[in-house]
Amino acid sequence: QNAWKLADHPKLPKGKTVAMVVLDGWGEAKPDEYNCIHTAPEKWRLIKAHGTAVGLPSEDDMGNSEVGHNALGAGRIFAQGAKLVDLALASGKIYDGDGFKYIKECFDNGTLHLIGLLSDGGVHSRLDQLQLLLKGAVDNGAKRIRVHILTDGRDVLDGSSIGFVETLEKDLSNLREKGFDAQIASGGGRMYVTMDRYENDWDVVKRGWDAQVLGEAPYKFRNAVEAVKKLREEPKANDQYLPPFVIVDESGNPVGPIKDGDAVVTFNFRADRMVMLAKALEYEDFDKFDRVRVPKVHYAGMLQYDGELKLPGHYLVSPPEIDRTSGEYLVHNGVRTFACSETVKFGHVTFFWNGNRSGYFNQELEEYVEIPSDVGITFNVQPKMKAKEIAEKARDAILSGKFDQVRVNLPNGDMVGHTGDIEATIVACKVADDAVKMIIDAIEQVGGIFVITADHGNAEDMVKRDKSGKPLLDKNGNLQILTSHTLQPVPIAIGGPGLAPGARFRNDVPHRWTCQCSCNCDESSWI
Ligand code: 3PG
Ligand code: CO
Repeated sequence: QNAWKLADHPKLPKGKTVAMVVLDGWGEAKPDEYNCIHTAPEKWRLIKAHGTAVGLPSEDDMGNSEVGHNALGAGRIFAQGAKLVDLALASGKIYDGDGFKYIKECFDNGTLHLIGLLSDGGVHSRLDQLQLLLKGAVDNGAKRIRVHILTDGRDVLDGSSIGFVETLEKDLSNLREKGFDAQIASGGGRMYVTMDRYENDWDVVKRGWDAQVLGEAPYKFRNAVEAVKKLREEPKANDQYLPPFVIVDESGNPVGPIKDGDAVVTFNFRADRMVMLAKALEYEDFDKFDRVRVPKVHYAGMLQYDGELKLPGHYLVSPPEIDRTSGEYLVHNGVRTFACSETVKFGHVTFFWNGNRSGYFNQELEEYVEIPSDVGITFNVQPKMKAKEIAEKARDAILSGKFDQVRVNLPNGDMVGHTGDIEATIVACKVADDAVKMIIDAIEQVGGIFVITADHGNAEDMVKRDKSGKPLLDKNGNLQILTSHTLQPVPIAIGGPGLAPGARFRNDVPHRWTCQCSCNCDESSWI
């Protein structure tokens, strides 16, 4: 029990309510007209939220909500899924593990199905990891392989999916030349097919199930490159929202429905958008949609996605053990917590915050509130999302006097930023700013403290740029819109009447970030 006892902080007074606000996708970059956060004015400074500073493999890895909230919630940096998979593939240990041995049992008589996000975004998955896994699978006895692809356009540029599918097709055709039966079997855009999260919309997972398992989809093609090219021709079509399709043979039969005796691997390392499919594949009792046919397969996740639910039971790489998180410390010290966001980010301030664990540590001391997100829309048409409702809940929780920590995620900068709609993202930033004000006002009223920060950048830069920072144009002379997160640092602000006079950020923390964005950042104020 003593191991959990926290010493009093030398500077921060006891008994003051603390509001903790995560502005999702809210980074800092050069203040030009593509910087929506700059356009909707705000004034904070900076900590690093990408690359090795948050446990990602390299400095080229943009930050993301999983690593951001893991780091914020645990107060420590862990080698994240991407890195752990890299290491397991490089050493070959992935093939010695129980997870791979389990799927290998099907290689003699069944098909190996690989389902996941096809891009080099490095947020949920990486193409190079899929390529290594394909090679490793055939080296270890897989003879028949079907890949079920989800096109990206969210962690990478819209339109880049064609190139990724071409690369994969080439690899599979090389395998075919060597005598393996390897093909793409189905596909669809990640936001419309399979990769929903936090049970926002099970129809998304159902559309994937129908294509991947049942071999049924509204569109049928002989070849996946043709499928993606053709489906992108529809007005307003984009990689994120491509409809589901299946690949068929010359007789029009789907080439790769999942059947009894097959092996399935979901190759995303990130949890949130794979948990729902994992449930559909693994749970006997399942009532979220009619699965029609539930094949008896050996299923493994790239990682175990939920440590609490032990889901899936089999996995190729052990996930980071994110232990002793702040939430757990708080309950052991009798500190009462309120956490809130809307559905699409709810798990960020609960599941990710608590080290990828669903559920409460101690329900007597914690209250988690989920505000239902709008379903079936892209958030550029509703950039306000539920920011006001989240702020009202936070305000009420602060004023109730029932909580010591009130933590929220305001999704607007990120969710609207991912749509690539600059006008809507400016609105999103303004709305998030208003929500922050409501929370700060409540903190003022109760004499509390606020901490406002972000998990990674997104809305602060909406265009792809060349090395000199100039926006890039495509071959038609249009701006290349950046729908993804960024490598930018994020702001942090701490304040409120409860903060002891003279409290300030430490200046003895190692790894200071040096401003690279030519925006004259005041280096001394961000630590
Ligand atoms: C998503 O899953 O929406 C994006 O790939 C990453 O966004 P997030 O890390 O902000 O959730
Ligand atoms: Co995001």
